[in-house]
Amino acid sequence: MSSAAFKSTVSQFVLSNDQVHKIIAGLTSELVEGLSTTDPKNITQQPSYITRLPTGKETGLYLAVDMGGTNLRTAAVHLLGDGQVGVTMEKHEITHQLKTGTGQAMFDWIADCTASLLKSVALDMGNADLQMGVTFSFALHQTAINRGKVLAMGKGFDLSDVMGKDLKDLLEDGFKRKNLPIVVSAIINDTVGTLVSHAYVSPSTKIGVILATGTNAAYIERASEVSKYKGPACDQMILNTEWDAMGKADYLPQTKYDKEIDAVSLVPGFQEFEKMVSGLYMGELVRLALVDLIQQKAVFTFLNGIVPESLKTRLAFKTLFMSTIESDNSSDHSSIDRVFKTSFGIEGLSAQDRADVHELIHTIGKRSAKMTAAACAALLRKANGASVKLDDPKEITTIGIDGSVFEKYPHFSRKMMDELTDILGQDRASRVRLELARDGGCIGAALVAMVSHSGGAV
Ligand code: GLC
Repeated sequence: MSSAAFKSTVSQFVLSNDQVHKIIAGLTSELVEGLSTTDPKNITQQPSYITRLPTGKETGLYLAVDMGGTNLRTAAVHLLGDGQVGVTMEKHEITHQLKTGTGQAMFDWIADCTASLLKSVALDMGNADLQMGVTFSFALHQTAINRGKVLAMGKGFDLSDVMGKDLKDLLEDGFKRKNLPIVVSAIINDTVGTLVSHAYVSPSTKIGVILATGTNAAYIERASEVSKYKGPACDQMILNTEWDAMGKADYLPQTKYDKEIDAVSLVPGFQEFEKMVSGLYMGELVRLALVDLIQQKAVFTFLNGIVPESLKTRLAFKTLFMSTIESDNSSDHSSIDRVFKTSFGIEGLSAQDRADVHELIHTIGKRSAKMTAAACAALLRKANGASVKLDDPKEITTIGIDGSVFEKYPHFSRKMMDELTDILGQDRASRVRLELARDGGCIGAALVAMVSHSGGAV
């Protein structure tokens, strides 16, 4: 039998229907507020300046750079028409040193990675400038389709001198320093890339979501609703919600572990929604709860209340361990022994310990799926009657979702769909599809670069 202390800890991660409805109401009011507010501290609902989705007929060769929380991808993207693409991509891990160094070092490195791609695809640069689309997985105050000022970065990035600078200039200055004739013709958020590229293959896509190191979403809004947008007239526009940063009005059911993650992060008080659901933090929640439970002698009693050094390191318990453990269907959860032995040097777990660890992980994973579903429900309702038609039985709305958590975490999609069905009701939910979207970053950036370069964007 689990101890009372364990039960009380786990129960804090179980969401009631009431809590889910509070999250939806809170997110909805922030989505609405973001449409009009020009308060620079409110980074939500960023206009993308993209006013139409691709038709699938686009053609041409474009370069793309996708800067994420973990990796940098560079690509040469051949748009072949008919929803077809040919992609040559290279992936590089962004080291901790780069993440916390200077902007100049970061953008020199990006230029070097791009030069390496150009070499490997033997692209003839001729005299013409190469057009590049850029996906940036961080908040940006966008001022044109290819311009935007860098806002607080999160995800462990602390670049000393880029805040408030224009990303196009930062990138092109780096390319110039390395003699690369490249022009940045589009800059998009990764959620916008996911929406655009998934719409290229699946035209009913109206929402793009990322569930990876971080989380966020983009959707299509009526331009008349976006009163803060001052660009050329249009009917509709893709907005980058930055839902990661929502949750300011205390409607998020944070446990003391969520609060601790926030308090010791590089930017406390920033991205509180993201810190409860995304891949960078879920494993850390498990670690913090376990450390607390070990100290209370509520689990792993053979340790006698002493937490091993290996479990004391921040972010040491990866969300990947949660996926491994949740994919193990053996009745004795033997993968738990393996994870604790191999990664933490801890041996001697009892059957009860394994059952408790499994329950803790399952509950934290399920909370993430439910909160993400609640956020999707808020967006679907906000867009309903315009880009989304939940009440029309002939209409399907597809949500394209990219990211390791959605792709690799066992049953994440089903858990989200179950929750969406509870929230929206069977009929409306049956018109919603959750689809895995892949490589949206580079393909989406290339598509928007193409549309922008040919003058078709705004
Ligand atoms: C972070 C960024 C956001 C990005 C998301 C997913 O929340 O602020 O721009 O879309 O991570 O990568």
